[in-house]
Amino acid sequence: MSTAWTSRYAQRAKNVRSSAIRELLKITQRPEIISFAGGLPAPDVFPVERFREACRKVLENHGPLALQYGPSEGYEPLREMIAQHTSRYGIKAEPSHVLITSGSQQALDLIGKLLINSGDRILVEAPTYLGALQAFSVYGAEYLCVPSDGDGLRTDLLEEPLRSGPKFMYVLPNFQNPGGTTLAEGRRHELVLLADRYGIPIIEDDPYGQLRYEGEHLTPLVVLDRENLRRDKGFSMGNVLYLSTFSKTLAPGLRLGWIVAPPEVITKLVQLKQGADLHTSTFGQMVAYEVARDGFLDEHIKLIRRVYGERRNVMLQALQEFCPPEVTWTRPLGGLFLWVTLPAGMDCHRLFDAALKQNVAFVAGDCFYAGNGWTEEGLRHLRLNFSNAQPEQIHEGIRRLAVAIKNQLAGLLPEPVVT
Ligand SMILES: Cc1ncc(COP(=O)(O)O)c(C=O)c1O
Repeated sequence: MSTAWTSRYAQRAKNVRSSAIRELLKITQRPEIISFAGGLPAPDVFPVERFREACRKVLENHGPLALQYGPSEGYEPLREMIAQHTSRYGIKAEPSHVLITSGSQQALDLIGKLLINSGDRILVEAPTYLGALQAFSVYGAEYLCVPSDGDGLRTDLLEEPLRSGPKFMYVLPNFQNPGGTTLAEGRRHELVLLADRYGIPIIEDDPYGQLRYEGEHLTPLVVLDRENLRRDKGFSMGNVLYLSTFSKTLAPGLRLGWIVAPPEVITKLVQLKQGADLHTSTFGQMVAYEVARDGFLDEHIKLIRRVYGERRNVMLQALQEFCPPEVTWTRPLGGLFLWVTLPAGMDCHRLFDAALKQNVAFVAGDCFYAGNGWTEEGLRHLRLNFSNAQPEQIHEGIRRLAVAIKNQLAGLLPEPVVT
């Protein structure tokens, strides 16, 4: 007798849905489509030659070690490199504060595993990163959603939800996914102060922080928390766990991210990681270390900033050139995305179908909102990625998108009165 698998699924599996974006990527891979959908880095900036050379060196110098099981915490030289690298941004971590994860997506999952009991409420931005909602929802998370504006999370609206005692806050201060917005300096201070006052930890997710195209780097929350609030300046009392990744600076296919956390939290996360995958690929970590070392990563990030900065400008100019005045968008200072707001009454799913007929794709905004009551808001938005397509494709793609928008908008207008 064959098993009726669905009746055997655990309750937590029922909380899981496919990511709308990953499903979408299957459609948008068709060659005729100009896709602004995925959060994909540009393949033309992947340092393939440097990787080839690094693989050769790793195999020549550390062959058997590279192919062996490794420590769950991560490859020690890579942990040291990350600790040094982050210290330039004021995050003064020791290697023992760093856990290497299989992408920062695994970091989100491990944090969910560590902190979330079924029914716990997590405070998130509205909108927020879909992958975090996916990771947390498996553990039965419920959400308190706080809106953002052009300066990021609305800290003036935080007190009431904080008073209701969420388990933690999940925040993206730099070039937010999907909004493209950056949390303003003053709000960063307010956020860590409020977190401290109400005793609510912060998960600071920062995959894009180094991809800044204009303006000055702003202090990470983890640094503000320690500098302003912790007398011992050590990690033992930190209120913030900090996440980042090589996905946007080297290559997402590496699946390499990290968590910076107090040592006691790292110890617990390591135990959970052992149950998940024992450790992140030894070979991948050694190759990443070999690629990044001797200043290569810094130089490479300069190249990425130049290329993506130009693509962002092309997208902004094309939006200005082609879109009707009723449509608005954010002007991100870095990262990979901008966020478009449609006029009231428009529905981004209907627009998606119309845009696909013009061979252009984006992600509909509603999937980035947690909890109920946000559908109407979500339907007025779309997320556009500007890193993956070539500048001429971006220009043409936005032209096509604007045609679809104008057609939809014309359908919304009342018929002219014939006199
Ligand atoms: C905000 C955010 N966090 C985490 C991730 C996951 O990244 P990684 O490739 O390191 O798993 C992404 C990927 O796009 C992201 O945008």
